[in-house]
Amino acid sequence: RIAYVNGRYVPHGEASIHVEDRGYQFADGVYEVCEVRGGALIDARRHLDRLDRSLGALRIAPPMSRAALLLVLRETVRRNTVRNGMVYMQVTRGVARRDHAFPPADTPASIVVTARRSDFAAQEALAATGVKVISLPENRWPRVDIKTVGLLPNVLAKQAAKEAGAREAWFVDAAGHVTEGASTNAWIVTAGGTIVTRPADAGILRGITRTVVLEEARALGYALEERPFTLAEAHAAAEAFITAASTLVMPVIAIDGQAVGDGKPGPVATRLRQRFHDFAE
Ligand code: PDD
Repeated sequence: RIAYVNGRYVPHGEASIHVEDRGYQFADGVYEVCEVRGGALIDARRHLDRLDRSLGALRIAPPMSRAALLLVLRETVRRNTVRNGMVYMQVTRGVARRDHAFPPADTPASIVVTARRSDFAAQEALAATGVKVISLPENRWPRVDIKTVGLLPNVLAKQAAKEAGAREAWFVDAAGHVTEGASTNAWIVTAGGTIVTRPADAGILRGITRTVVLEEARALGYALEERPFTLAEAHAAAEAFITAASTLVMPVIAIDGQAVGDGKPGPVATRLRQRFHDFAE
């Protein structure tokens, strides 16, 4: 495997970052994960728009132009012969003597790009059976709309899910509303057939997959509500599912050990996943 690190393509095993990189010391950086299908980047423009937004929110100067970054992403995908998989990019505030405040303005940002294949068959098998989620109290900072590499609460939540035999953890805010998963957005389908997901103005990352699924669901004529939902509502729902570039639409069959609907992937989630495949082709 090959990684791109600050202007050079290097063997993955030798790809390294300085010990005083601010991403390493302070999680002072942002990232994106973009799906690769048939060798092409899916929704690259939207991912790069969000990267710009994250960088802007943290006042990190983009390390290169968008056109140059697109070339690097494509070249990294090519050099790793990824047809179906993911490309990961991370930008940090660069290398400087450890000091919490920003380093001198001329400190260049660090940029890393990696790409890897995903096991398509395993993903499809998982989607056919559905996944379990657990719930945990929301304990992240309020700016989760910025895609920062500061993911410690997400890491701990995902590990708790794994130890409970589940795939994802849903954070629940002080008002009792589900915000999102540790690395996915959260959705339910009510008994009446309405698709519900939390608005992207507070408490969640505005997922690119979320945006695409909203567009697809609208085009298919489903009733849609962007509003917060409670765990009780999720337990009473006909269906639940999660979305992310890494999993697309993934049916949820149980929440905290309690079956959702009939405990099998539901028709809405299954249809949206299929539509997502068609859309991405
Ligand atoms: N996670 N919410 C959180 C907290 C996420 O980390 C992600 C993505 C999403 C879904 O966003 P998108 O549809 O743009 O992938 C929602 C990536 C895949 C990750 O951390 O690996």
